Amino acid sequence: MSKQLLNIMNSSLLTPVPSIPTTPLSPSPSAAMLACGASYPNVAARIAERPTATRVLSIFGTRPEVIKFYPVLKEMDKRSESILSITCVTGQHRQMIDPLLSLFDIATDVDLNLMTQGQTLSNLSARLFLALAPVFEAVRPHLVLVQGDTTTAMIAAMCAFYYRVPVGHIEAGLRTNDRYNPFPEEVNRRIVSVVGNLHFAPSSYAADALRAERIDMNTVFVTGNPVIDAIMLIREKVPSAAARQLLDRVEAADAATNAVLPAGQKARHILLTAHRRENHGEGIAAICRAVKRIIAQHKDVHIWYPVHLNPAVCVPVRQELGKMERVHLLDPLEYDVFVHFLDRMYMVMTDSGGIQEEVTALAKPTIVLRETTERPEGVDAGVTKLVGINDDTIVKEATLLLTDDQTFAAMSRKCFPFGDGTAAQQIVDILLTSLSTNKLSIGA
Ligand code: UD1
Ligand code: UDP
Repeated sequence: MSKQLLNIMNSSLLTPVPSIPTTPLSPSPSAAMLACGASYPNVAARIAERPTATRVLSIFGTRPEVIKFYPVLKEMDKRSESILSITCVTGQHRQMIDPLLSLFDIATDVDLNLMTQGQTLSNLSARLFLALAPVFEAVRPHLVLVQGDTTTAMIAAMCAFYYRVPVGHIEAGLRTNDRYNPFPEEVNRRIVSVVGNLHFAPSSYAADALRAERIDMNTVFVTGNPVIDAIMLIREKVPSAAARQLLDRVEAADAATNAVLPAGQKARHILLTAHRRENHGEGIAAICRAVKRIIAQHKDVHIWYPVHLNPAVCVPVRQELGKMERVHLLDPLEYDVFVHFLDRMYMVMTDSGGIQEEVTALAKPTIVLRETTERPEGVDAGVTKLVGINDDTIVKEATLLLTDDQTFAAMSRKCFPFGDGTAAQQIVDILLTSLSTNKLSIGA
């Protein structure tokens, strides 16, 4: 990078600007700008091939982000004549995203590979800032897309703001109004909303939350959540060998249990997931106690738990539940396997955000192992129920679903409060219109 360009960049980054400039980023980057891409030769080559194309930089790094970005990236690929889509994987997660990147066939232009074992929020954040700056300098994007509320999303949005690059936020407007629940995601998504320029809300409920925060409603669009697009795209595919293998395991467990149950009774299968930071420690311990009690009280029940790789989760869970009869601890499942598996389950117990959304489209009664939820749509629709993380309450609510046919039937209802599977198409339409009408520009 030339000294002159560095000076210009540094001064524009560090000096407070009294009036916001509205000059759009030059559509054709200068030779000096392209030279910044030297550390990312692939990116530089892609830009050099189409120097006047609109560059959209998508930044993601965790399992839920990859799943929810997938339909949007696929849609941008369809419009490649209008958009040069560049992907940056932060690698906040590693093992949990690699199979997804290959399942979805996502080409990564940049992989920062940042994950460390047991990473802390501040350490990861600091490394993200340092690693993302050269990516911004190499890509000089016209727009940055982030999804949700992870550390990756929050720091990427802040970084875009420092570079005065407009930010599009997928899954905007989720709120619990409790800054420590979920922690730190509630604050992360608020920060993204403050720096965001286009807010893609999954529901009118989320849009209302943004209105209440005085976000300009001309920049808020109710598009649905692309997780519904993702689940629909995956369900179109025939189950993979890995999915069939796991489903066979369920059938085998079924047969073994049915053989010892009194006539007329049949085995039932519960999917459990829990990983949230606010549930680490006592929350996870309470969930394990509840699992033991449910298994003891219901001889027909199997509990299947794909355990998150976070050591704060997998170490205590494997210690407490590792040797229990009818409790199956699994490694994290590939997404296609997970979706087919979820479909086979009788009911779900989870603290996951994405799963609260997916169960609405699959009509799976779900008890939510959290004190608050930013996804009241599922609760309002009667498919999910917020039960907290007290073991007595978890056992009581699970037992209700296992014993009361009416409650079970009322919660087994397919509904689409998070959109009809066209979120990605809507998001890309909106960002193209906004970019082409010059509504978004540097400093916009
Ligand atoms: C993060 C998100 C959370 C999301 C969750 C999805 C933030 C602030 N939170 O959780 O919203 O629900 O991801 O899973 O960004 N690990 C591996 N391999 C992996 C992934 C994780 O070993 O592929 C282990 C590592 O030890 C890592 C730890 O899990 O350090 C925690 O990962 P991290 O992304 O920091 O998790 P959370 O912040 O809890
Ligand atoms: N998921 C998966 N394999 C698993 C567990 C979950 O593919 O073993 C998917 C699930 O379908 C959902 C997403 O991961 O789309 C949710 O991610 P996670 O629970 O890690 O994060 P959250 O949604 O809570 O932020």
